[in-house]
Amino acid sequence: MNLLITGGAGFIGSHLIWQVIDQPEVTKIVNLDCLTYAGHLENLEGIHGTHPRYLFEQVDLRDKDAVLRVIRQHDITHVMHLAAESHVDRSITGPADFITTNINGTFHLLEACRTHWSDPASSIQHRASRFLHVSTDEVYGSLAPTAPAFTETTPYAPNSPYSASKAASDMLVRSYHHTYGLPTLITHCSNNYGPRQHPEKFIPVIIQSVLQRQPIPVYGDGMNVRDWLYVSDHCQALWTLLTTGKTGETYNIGGQNEQTNLHLVQQICDLIDELDPSLGGNSRSLITFVPDRPGHDRRYAMDTAKISSELRWQPVHTFEVGLRETVSWYLEHQHGARAVTHGFLAEVSRHY
Ligand code: NAD
Ligand code: TYD
Repeated sequence: MNLLITGGAGFIGSHLIWQVIDQPEVTKIVNLDCLTYAGHLENLEGIHGTHPRYLFEQVDLRDKDAVLRVIRQHDITHVMHLAAESHVDRSITGPADFITTNINGTFHLLEACRTHWSDPASSIQHRASRFLHVSTDEVYGSLAPTAPAFTETTPYAPNSPYSASKAASDMLVRSYHHTYGLPTLITHCSNNYGPRQHPEKFIPVIIQSVLQRQPIPVYGDGMNVRDWLYVSDHCQALWTLLTTGKTGETYNIGGQNEQTNLHLVQQICDLIDELDPSLGGNSRSLITFVPDRPGHDRRYAMDTAKISSELRWQPVHTFEVGLRETVSWYLEHQHGARAVTHGFLAEVSRHY
């Protein structure tokens, strides 16, 4: 397997590389990443520049020729496509990059694979290759409080420029399977959390706010519901799907772990109070309700019956264990993360 992972310097992509680099099926991993504000090679310290199976290509998916060059030069047989603009708030204040990266970038990658995998001079045949596209639960839209969870057949109803751009890319992937027979899989996962997440995402925002004794910004009434999955459980599901999933299919991935934002914040406050009493306790007093995100989806929930019955995948981490590991990691690494987060919190308060 000559495996291309796009977005490998980001949060989930870097965890994925750590998890699969030593799998016996892997001959080499090529990490394609242009290193936006969200991409950090420090996430791969210990692999980048040292691991014999690892190669890095600093390439922008928007550069069609460069993407084809990478696929050809490394004779890529398998793709796990994670590179994307991924933050909803940024898609509201500046949607353009979401369109060019998430839609055009995915198109370039599909075209490059189609070209290489159908080239009679290439050693790869369609049947032996795989294109796994990592999408999101957000393409399904927003659920009413007691509505059943999203299944793989729930109609798409994206509400933010981010989710609309991901939905568009999913449609392209689907069309390449139906039209050209590209061996694709599409995954829809719920909110990930864990060490090394970019400080703009909600759980790092909460943790860093508490550590700095700053207000914790909770949008609206805090009653929006998200399903949370520990990042390594997501990566395990992606690997299982790449190696044993059925091509042409889509799979939901989730943690069966719905939380209101407010309850999530309260749990993290209490956990930090327990783990670092020197901060003075009573972190819940930092909770601050701020104006809501425009078009804020009320609830996401995932029905994961398909992946659990077909592939026997289940998350390993309970939320209690995963959250404790995550908070402990931030406590150990708070020095490095502080400066970035502080800047971002100032930026958020300017936007809303
Ligand atoms: P991230 O923002 O942490 O990382 C994205 C990576 O993609 C970065 O390394 C960035 O440099 C790279 N990138 C961005 N634009 C690029 C371009 N034009 N060319 C090359 N590289 C580019 O994202 P993440 O949270 O790790 O998410 C990874 C994927 O998983 C995304 O496709 C996202 O939609 C999906 N997803 C994320 C979550 C979540 O909770 N984080 C949940 C479900 C699905
Ligand atoms: P986020 O991590 O941005 O993920 P997504 O919007 O893709 O689900 O946000 C998770 C939830 O937390 C979402 O309901 C918005 C909310 N939120 C806040 O209340 N305050 C914040 O500062 C952020 C970043 C998010």
